[in-house]
Amino acid sequence: MICKDRVVAVTGAGRGLGRAHALEFARQGALVVVNDLGVARDGTGDAAEGPAQDVVREIEALGGRAVASTDDIATDAGAAALVETATGAFGRLDTLVNNAGFLRDRMLINLGEDEWDAVMRVHLKGHFLPLKHAGRYWRAESKAGRPVDARVINTSSGAGLLGSVGQGNYSAAKAGIVGLTLVASAELGRYGVTVNAIAPAARTRMTEEVFAQTMAAPAEGEFDAMAPENVSPLVVWLGSAGSRDVTGRVFEAEGGRICVMDAFRHGPAADKGARWDPAEVGGVVKDLLAKAPAPEPVYGAG
Ligand SMILES: NC(=O)c1ccc[n+]([C@@H]2O[C@H](COP(=O)([O-])OP(=O)(O)OC[C@H]3O[C@@H](n4cnc5c(N)ncnc54)[C@H](O)[C@@H]3O)[C@@H](O)[C@H]2O)c1
Repeated sequence: MICKDRVVAVTGAGRGLGRAHALEFARQGALVVVNDLGVARDGTGDAAEGPAQDVVREIEALGGRAVASTDDIATDAGAAALVETATGAFGRLDTLVNNAGFLRDRMLINLGEDEWDAVMRVHLKGHFLPLKHAGRYWRAESKAGRPVDARVINTSSGAGLLGSVGQGNYSAAKAGIVGLTLVASAELGRYGVTVNAIAPAARTRMTEEVFAQTMAAPAEGEFDAMAPENVSPLVVWLGSAGSRDVTGRVFEAEGGRICVMDAFRHGPAADKGARWDPAEVGGVVKDLLAKAPAPEPVYGAG
């Protein structure tokens, strides 16, 4: 019960990873706002109550407490309503898990402006707006003298950290989420809020066709390394009071493996103390690259 009585909102929690997080939070004693717009894998279709309500029922069957939200978290009103649902139903908000999203994969040269906008909107804006409204709520709580011990867990992706062929829009949005996480961690720390990000991998409707072979379910009795439930223990711990000292970090989580991502650290540098001549730059850069670790491969390249 590492989250006993904490109030947790999970976006996109009607299916896949978000559902697994919501159920594990409930098992760990949290009161959960299950948000899901109930859209198709590419984000199309009318909002449907189904998935969010189903997970609420699953939590209630476990003996837990949960409420459904079908707000579109990529709108200002929807993100504000998410925070209000938590405070209205349970009196507070302690942990926000930004997880909702969808894909519109295409090679860059074929990627339509609408496909770019839709994916940037749901992932990047869909992280920014709930973060903003939750942050404003926590600042108000802190200013009112009430103790805040709050957590935000954002959802990036290996695509955002290393790149992924055919996912230019998604990779850019997921890389943007890392930048947003670093800024939010620095800005909200003073109010008692930590902000971290995860890059998960699991078999969900988002990945089961693309990675059909690597995501295949194992033989009966073997560890199912691709089950979404494997990612949730890290998310739930990051959402608990026990992770108070951890902020501004990015973790990869897959199967039984948790990895701290160590990207964008300053590498080898040269400083002439004056402006370089363009003709001398080539030699200097090649020297620096020889001293730097080679980049990790882009997913799907080669
Ligand atoms: N599955 C993986 O291996 C993997 C890898 C890296 C990152 N991710 C990320 O994890 C998160 C969850 O993905 P998943 O694999 O569980 O996918 P999923 O399609 O199973 O679940 C995503 C849920 O988000 C909901 N949603 C979409 N737009 C919404 C909106 N505007 N407001 C509220 N809800 C909305 C959908 O209805 C859906 O139920 C996503 O951000 C995804 O990019 C997943």
